[in-house]
Amino acid sequence: MELTGLILNNKTEAKPSLTHFRKDNDKKVYIETYGCQMNFSDTEIVLGVMSRYGYNETTELRDSDVILLNTCSIRDNAERKIYSRLDELKFEKRRNPNLIIGILGCMAERLRRDLLEEKKMVDLIVGPDEYRKVPELIDNLAETGEKGIAVKLSRVETYDDIAPLRREGVSAWLSIMRGCDKFCTFCVVPFTRGRERSRSLAGVVSEAVKLAEQGVKDIWLLGQNVNSYRHEGNDFADLLNTVASELPQVRIRYTTSHPYDLSVKLLETMASHDNICKYIHLPLQSGSDRILKLMNRLYSVKHYMNVMKTARSMMPDIGFSTDIISCFPGESEYDHRMTLDAIREVRYDGAYTFLYSPRENTRAYSMEWNFPEEIRKRRLEEIISLQREISFDINRSLIGKIKTIVVESRSKKSDKQFLGRTDCNKSVIIPDNFVNNSCRQDISAGDIVDVEIRKANSATLFGEIRCVRTSLTV
Ligand code: SAH
Ligand code: SF4
Ligand code: F3S
Repeated sequence: MELTGLILNNKTEAKPSLTHFRKDNDKKVYIETYGCQMNFSDTEIVLGVMSRYGYNETTELRDSDVILLNTCSIRDNAERKIYSRLDELKFEKRRNPNLIIGILGCMAERLRRDLLEEKKMVDLIVGPDEYRKVPELIDNLAETGEKGIAVKLSRVETYDDIAPLRREGVSAWLSIMRGCDKFCTFCVVPFTRGRERSRSLAGVVSEAVKLAEQGVKDIWLLGQNVNSYRHEGNDFADLLNTVASELPQVRIRYTTSHPYDLSVKLLETMASHDNICKYIHLPLQSGSDRILKLMNRLYSVKHYMNVMKTARSMMPDIGFSTDIISCFPGESEYDHRMTLDAIREVRYDGAYTFLYSPRENTRAYSMEWNFPEEIRKRRLEEIISLQREISFDINRSLIGKIKTIVVESRSKKSDKQFLGRTDCNKSVIIPDNFVNNSCRQDISAGDIVDVEIRKANSATLFGEIRCVRTSLTV
């Protein structure tokens, strides 16, 4: 594939000096990531690309030669966050005129003109399929003062050969595909990330094996719709089956699954492996068929409920979470009530709830949309409080039960506690040691422990350790 930059003109005002910049193998990049897990996984790919060119990541903004913001466009407030962050970074640029500031990710294509012309401080704009070019564009900028833009979307780029640079941790994201072809009428993703394409099965498996060798205990396979994964006759169930069989001591999860094409074969694969988490994030968006149709979601509420029932009949303890959009164009009070009914019927473990945000270029953008603020506030609040009640009920019903968790990290609230996760993706706080027959055992990240749930609120469980296990296998 071609590696040259696309458009390299637009002179910068303050030209970064080469002498300042070219300290080979000692260039520092600072990246902030916004948006979904795909973006977090992309940041690791960008760091992987940059490390080949002698860049090291820094977590100190002031220590950096290059600041990159990996952006999200999904809702208006996500974009506004970036604009206000750029305003703050203006001061850094004033302090150090050689500093290079770049925009990566989903805002790159949509807002390149605005970002380059209005926000003159941005030196570099690179879209999700052009990350291989980042180091060259920076070099060119440092040498010639020309701003770099590369925002073309690709039909083939999967970064299959790039080793992402990850921070140490128990849990890791692993992208298995890119883009989305579903074109839900509210969503910018098909425009910002382009057509769907899958990585090779062998590439995904070998990356997963490497992660396990590095001590990762929990792998999330990522795609906008993992059910669309296809590679040389293999579908997502085949991929999941292969990864889970190769790594029986690693928990495997995935996100996101679209209700339209979640297959029975996938559910059977989940049921047949102890190490595949019994948890599905299955965005419903609305409980009204009329609204689902306007959203182009391709399924009915009945179909959705059937998928849930089949999953529960095969895996009785399975956990579910969802995404809901409230106040989509044309949503009536009746439609809203149906969403509340659907939430009651499914009894989700958790839900991400959003107010509809109109996005340019999408089909819903031209639909009439005018909800008074008070209706939007009330509907959103009703969904959130219903879900909170359900989550609390479900979590309370776990008190007294034993759950196996993988310990992730020290708890943010106390360094005497650890945070772990059940296979249904519930956070559990536990003590940092376990006393058994007067013998004290310290807990560390990566341990697999059985805990008895002693306390719960709607978001978190609190447990006592009953035993430290050697394996995930039941
Ligand atoms: N690929 C995933 C979702 C990715 S976006 C899927 O199809 O499920 C994550 C969530 O953001 C979506 O599920 C949706 O609930 C929400 N979302 C997307 N576009 C939105 C918009 N324009 N306004 C409000 N919420 C939106
Ligand atoms: Fe967006 Fe729909 Fe694709 Fe999800 S499936 S990324 S909501 S277009
Ligand atoms: Fe945002 Fe792009 Fe993800 S728009 S939600 S970062 S795919």
